[in-house]
Amino acid sequence: MTSITAKGHAKAFCERFGLRLPILLAPMAGSTPAALAGAVANAGGMGALGALNTTPDGIGEWARTFRAQSNGSFQINLWIPDPPPVRDAAREAAMAEFLAGHGPRPPIPEGPLLPDFTAQCAAMLAAGPTVISSIMGVFPDDVIAQAKARGIAWFATATTLAEAREAVAAGADAIIAQGAEAGGHRGAFDHAAAEGQLTGSIALIPRFADALEVPVIATGGIGDARGIAAALTLGASAVQIGTGFLRCPEAAIHPVWAEAIAAAEPEGTLPTRMFSGRLGRGIANAVIRAAAPPIADYPVQRGLFAPIRAAAEKAGNHDAMQMWAGQAAFLARAEPAADLTTRLWSEAQSLLP
Ligand SMILES: Cc1cc2nc3c(=O)[nH]c(=O)nc-3n(C[C@H](O)[C@H](O)[C@H](O)COP(=O)(O)O)c2cc1C
Repeated sequence: MTSITAKGHAKAFCERFGLRLPILLAPMAGSTPAALAGAVANAGGMGALGALNTTPDGIGEWARTFRAQSNGSFQINLWIPDPPPVRDAAREAAMAEFLAGHGPRPPIPEGPLLPDFTAQCAAMLAAGPTVISSIMGVFPDDVIAQAKARGIAWFATATTLAEAREAVAAGADAIIAQGAEAGGHRGAFDHAAAEGQLTGSIALIPRFADALEVPVIATGGIGDARGIAAALTLGASAVQIGTGFLRCPEAAIHPVWAEAIAAAEPEGTLPTRMFSGRLGRGIANAVIRAAAPPIADYPVQRGLFAPIRAAAEKAGNHDAMQMWAGQAAFLARAEPAADLTTRLWSEAQSLLP
């Protein structure tokens, strides 16, 4: 690290990306409504849309709704698609049989399981966000070139220094260092390597900050002012908070999920492939603790689990619900998002020299 102070790094980052404070709402597919993003942006932070399962039209609609409430900064995030899944009829049938014990018997998924990525990229660029962000790889060259031509920055999620360097070489303007504490999916570029790339934030942040020329955004396990001050002290220029915003009223998640977050001990969350086939950290409930047959490839497993998820949400069934959460879930507060954002930065500043 250079001799610039933690507050100095944060200030430079905020000036560059139009923020008044260095707190970013984490993109969370399905859980970043415009009301939540607008509240964080109005408090001076950066809003976010996790657009994985949003149609191209839906991306434009989300941006219009956001702009109706805020003229602040926001990012739109996409998952970089994996190679096509290897289909395995016997494995998928065994998984469907297992899942039938936790909800309705799921049909074997067929056809496209997610919106078209190329069309989503076009809609994302057309929406004109401050930032586009990626997880699980790097954007195609033409998307990066178009973003740069439009003055849109690119933040790339990485879980190892090698991934971060690959993204910087491809043109990333900042790297999101995703520590193993993080709720939701792991950003490993190679999905098969995810279990071997579970480095915690306290080691990952200074590794990236020392080795990279671009700003580092810390994400994973940050839920209060102590975490923010620690991340900035370790060399991050900003923090990105996911689970810590999920109990805010604007997040509007299922009440059973919100209660599970409030009650979770750090060891009460586990990395699992049950919900999608990709590794992600969620509340350790009965369905992810059960002795399951081999998991299907992403996104086939996601398709298999979808009916279980829907039925569990309808019934308020904790045992089979998909409840993403990070290890610092216990820090999440049921507080309006703008108040939370303002309070966190005010308290963090008093902890920093
Ligand atoms: C419900 C949920 C959904 C998520 N969806 C995405 C996503 O679509 N794209 C992404 O880059 N990260 C996603 N993540 C990961 C977050 O962006 C971030 O890395 C993580 O929440 C940080 O850890 P924390 O939860 O401890 O704050 C998700 C996390 C959660 C909790």
